Order: sequence, then structure tokens, then C-alpha cells
Amino acid sequence: MWKPPERIVHKTISNAWPTAPQAQDSVLFAPYKNGRFRLSQRTWIPAMVPWRATEEGFVTDDVIDWYRRFAEGKPGAIVVEATGVRDVPSGPLLRAGHDRFLPGLEKLVSAVREASDGETKLFIQLIDFLAIKRRPQKEKFIGRHLEITDRHRRYLKMDRDDETVRNAMLALDDEALKLCLSEREYESYSRGYRERVTDTHLPHIAELPKCLPEIFSNAAARAEQAGFDGVELHYAHAYTMASFLSKLNTRSDGYGGDRDSRLRLPLEVYECVRAQTSDRFLVGCRFLSDECINGGSDLQDAMYFASAFAKAGMDFLSLSRGGKFEDAAEPKVGQAIYPYTGRSGYECMPQIISDAHGPFGRNINAARNIRNAVRAAGCDTPIIAAGGIHHFDQANAVLKNGDADIIGLARQAMADPDWFEKVRTGNGDAVNVCKYTNYCEGLDQKHKMVTCQLWDRKEMDEPGLARTPDGKRRTTAPAWRR
Ligand SMILES: Cc1cc2nc3c(=O)[nH]c(=O)nc-3n(C[C@H](O)[C@H](O)[C@H](O)COP(=O)(O)O)c2cc1C
Repeated sequence: MWKPPERIVHKTISNAWPTAPQAQDSVLFAPYKNGRFRLSQRTWIPAMVPWRATEEGFVTDDVIDWYRRFAEGKPGAIVVEATGVRDVPSGPLLRAGHDRFLPGLEKLVSAVREASDGETKLFIQLIDFLAIKRRPQKEKFIGRHLEITDRHRRYLKMDRDDETVRNAMLALDDEALKLCLSEREYESYSRGYRERVTDTHLPHIAELPKCLPEIFSNAAARAEQAGFDGVELHYAHAYTMASFLSKLNTRSDGYGGDRDSRLRLPLEVYECVRAQTSDRFLVGCRFLSDECINGGSDLQDAMYFASAFAKAGMDFLSLSRGGKFEDAAEPKVGQAIYPYTGRSGYECMPQIISDAHGPFGRNINAARNIRNAVRAAGCDTPIIAAGGIHHFDQANAVLKNGDADIIGLARQAMADPDWFEKVRTGNGDAVNVCKYTNYCEGLDQKHKMVTCQLWDRKEMDEPGLARTPDGKRRTTAPAWRR
């Protein structure tokens, strides 16, 4: 993973924790109410994929245990991991693209309601993504898959049959191949083929604006049927909807180019979801305050998008940053590119080794600007900010300053799912503070069951303990014994 060259090792905040009365009088632990959007406290666990679904995308006992464990800490809300909206094989990623996924999702909702005594609101993040292929072997890519064109013949100064051209190309080193292949071909060779929303020569990409509103809204209707309080439309990071919002989206069919055209599909998806769900059901989105890549959308774009989403009536706006394919590290042959390995990936999940700004609250300045833009547009839509937040003082200050309305703690909640109850009841000293080394994210990258180094080898003699497939790690944090 990319790390800032300054390599400054930061320290987590070690201020005293509040007493129970201090915590309970704080903004952070005050209920949040805005129309139909209500939380028992202003805390939020953002979506995190823990790789516990079956290969077919079904909820497993491990999935249920994972969210039950979060619910025991009684945060204001939990967002269930990115869940595929289509009915297509997607590996062990949760799916909501067919009614056969309903029983598992219903069980998941019941487990969270029960473990949180009904205090935690439950959302599910709905995602669409385009095809990516693993980085190919040179012999396979050049020797078989590459379509031989005049460009290759011109470079090689060789007007011969495909096989002879392929053999000549196989003899080239990467420097020469970079010149011989088109930019896109070289990318497919060195990083694996990756579809883009701008590939409108492909009929299924050209038709995304026609099919996605219905695909998303069917999945949202299913989420409502399963009992979720709402959905978070995944408009962030490296995936389809974020790519429509991106400044790199140059589609010329009215769904790319200027800001309004880039916003068009995300708004159409939202409208369709709204139309297919009831008035009680909450619909918001997660999007980027900054793509953090060359030529990508920036804070000004995000302020514009946020105002448009708020004016359209979204119930909440959750902010992330970065996490793109464009600047991700080259994968090894046989592996797929992972969007959290470049500078933009660092911005998404900043680590303890950082630059002078440090890993804590990197998205807060952007959140303030976005919130101000939404307020200036006459909307009071809640803004959810996350990124390195682990201490009460930090979280409460963000709310008191009016930088955001709700605080997301992702890795900190994973490090200690009882953070919320511990801090609220004056037991902050018992909090296991996240180390921000991205051990969890390293597991995510390998599609291995995600756990936290602070607890995954503790109390291993617990009777009936659920373990990772290799038997070495426990799958959820041990219970908090007061
Ligand atoms: C293991 C892991 C999986 C994640 N999966 C998702 C995801 O499914 N959807 C999403 O929007 N963000 C995902 N994220 C990003 C987090 O939601 C969050 O934005 C990020 O970790 C920064 O917040 P934090 O500093 O509180 O951890 C993931 C993060 C981690 C560590």
C-alpha cells in the first residue's frame, strides 16, 4: 500500500475519556432527529466488507455473528457491507439481486434488532461494479487474447499474419511493449483488463443508464422487505456509480461530461429507489468528498453533488474519499488490481504512518465545506463523516463545530465493537484503540475473513468459538466483561 513519503509515525489520541454523565450530556450521545431519520445517538458504523458470505452471496452464520457483535455495542446505526445489486456471480460478496437472498437478510436484520434491543438502525449498502480481470500472463495475453491491429504491425514494421506478429511481440520487453501496445492494451497487460463506464462501444455499458435504476430499486425494495431501515447507495470509491460522478467520465450520451450530466444517473437511480420503497424507508448515499486522483472530481464537485442529492430528498449523505483504481498499485501476475493501494487508497483508509496532517480526521475539512454547501442550498440533510476517528473528544468536537452531523467509526468499531457502550457509560479506559496499521485491510485485499489484530488471537479456549477457515483466528471480538 502507498504511504506518504514523510513517513511520520503518529500517535492515537490519549486524552482522558468522559465520565458517564459527561458522555450522556454530549452531542455525540444525544439522539438525532430529522424528519423520518432518527438515531438513538450520533454514531454510525460505515460499511466494511468482512468476507463472510458464501461463494453464491448468501448470508452465513459468520455474517450474522459479525453484525450481532457490532449491534451489542449499540451504535446509532450500522451499515451492512457493500452488497451486490445484480443477480450475477460475484464471489463471496453479499448479494441482494434476487428474492432467494431474502431469508438470510431477514435473519441478519432480526439478529441486529435483538442484540441492540432495537436501538441501532440498520442500513445496507447497495453496490454495482464493472468487470475486472486478473493481471494476465504475458504468453496468454500477447500469445492469445490480444487482438492484433495495424498499430502493432506498424510498430514492428511487419506486414505479416497474426501469429508471426504475436511471436515478435512476445520477444519485446515491457518498455518496448508500452510503445507497441495502445495505452488501454498496455493497461490490460500490466494491470488486468478493467471495464469503464466510458466503454460505450460495449452494449451493456452503453445501456447502464437504462438498466441500473431498476436493478438498484429492486434490490432496495428487497432490503425493505427484509426489514432494513434503509439503504445506502454506494456512489463512492472505484465502482460504477462513482465512475459516473467522476470528472473522468466523458460519456457523450448525456450521462457524462459536465457535472449535471455526471449526476444524472445517480439521481435517476435514487428517484427509482425512492419510487419503489415506502415513505418510511430511508434512502441515502455514500460518495467521495474528493477522488484524490489526477483529473478526478474534487471538493468543488462534491459540494455540487451533495447539494443536488440533498435537494432531491436523500435522507443522509455519508462521505468517504479516494479509493480508486486509477492510481492503484500494479498487481502481481494472476492477481486483480485492488483500489486501496495507491495514494487515493491511502486517503480512503489512512494509516498511522502518515504525512504532517496525520491519519485522523483527514476528511473533516471537506465534510465542513460539503455540509455548508448543503445548508446554503436550504437543506438540513445529515452529513456523516468518517476517517481515523477513534476518540470521544475528536468525535464530539466535529459535531460541536458543525463539521458533520453524525460520526462514522469504521476500523475503530472493528477494533472494539463495544466502543459506543464503553464510552457512553464512562468506561472509555476499557476501549481497545485501533492501531491504524491496516491489518484488517490487508486481509480484505486478499479476500480473507477480516478480523482485528487486537482481538483475533485472544481467549482462544472459549467453548464453541467460531474460527477462520485456517483455525488460527477467532471471527469476532471477545465479549466485554464489565
Ligand atoms: C476491511 C474494510 C472493508 C471496507 N469495506 C467498505 C465497503 O464495503 N464500503 C465502503 O463504503 N467502505 C468500505 N470501507 C471503508 C470504511 O467504511 C471507511 O470509510 C474507512 O475505513 C475510513 O474510516 P475509518 O478510519 O473509521 O476506518 C472498508 C474499510 C475496511 C477497513
